[in-house]
Amino acid sequence: MSQPGRIGTLVAASLAASSAPEAALMRISALSETSSTNDSCREMALAGAPEWTVVIADVQSKGRGRLGREWSSPAGCGLWCSVLLRPAVPLARLGPLALVIAVGAHQALTAVGAAGLEIKWPNDLLWRGRKLAGILTETPGPGAADAPPRCAIAGIGINLRVPPLGFPESIAGNAVALEEITGEFPDVGRLGALLLQQLYAGYHQLQREGFGGLREQWLARTKMMGLTVTATSPGGDTLGGIAETIDLDGQLVLRLESGATVTVAAADVTLRQTQATHPVTHRVRDGG
Ligand code: BTN
Repeated sequence: MSQPGRIGTLVAASLAASSAPEAALMRISALSETSSTNDSCREMALAGAPEWTVVIADVQSKGRGRLGREWSSPAGCGLWCSVLLRPAVPLARLGPLALVIAVGAHQALTAVGAAGLEIKWPNDLLWRGRKLAGILTETPGPGAADAPPRCAIAGIGINLRVPPLGFPESIAGNAVALEEITGEFPDVGRLGALLLQQLYAGYHQLQREGFGGLREQWLARTKMMGLTVTATSPGGDTLGGIAETIDLDGQLVLRLESGATVTVAAADVTLRQTQATHPVTHRVRDGG
């Protein structure tokens, strides 16, 4: 039997020490290594694990990102974490889940001192244009024979420190670690516990009230509205326009040069300029 994971053990201890009532509902599986915490979570779901089973691994050998990309996850350099959710509402209503998780991650990271973070649609957390964290939500099945019944898996990866040999070349200029932002290695137990508490609150708000209020919170944490962007679809098609807002499904609303608007469900977005040509303002609810 392998040793329990160090990072998951720290998060579990911090969560247990918190007075948060939801802590008692969470079961943290602290692994030293796995292929992907999303995969481990899926296996646990298949075996009947309850909602709020959380998998945290010190290292992922096959961490993955959005659109089939690799997610570099070296030992002790990040918080690699997945949560099993078994929503009471139809999965279709959880469309904006990844954006809700981005809001929760923004809140938790801000609370541990990472000032100046912003969310880039759909759910990247950036600091000065460099990526600190990414989110991968998956809803296995129901088509596949081995799919667990009606569940969602929310995976989040947060870079905590720069790997000893640096970030992989493919992301070196675009990635940042929390340690670089705050100037010290974070209290990862506290960060993980805060993150899980924020995710819990956001997830239940989404089920109870829908995306309306959370959408405002998301908009208050992005700086991309009003900027000219290029959206590249998973198939490689590109569309340019001004990022106008997000809708109640969490889709990006782009205003094209013709004046028409289109909604984009899944894409990579690059900002073509940093100056807003048609500024779009949003009420900021809090400074987080
Ligand atoms: C992205 O920005 O492309 C999403 C990255 C998501 C990475 C996390 S790390 C924990 C979980 N396990 C994975 O294999 N991926 C997610």
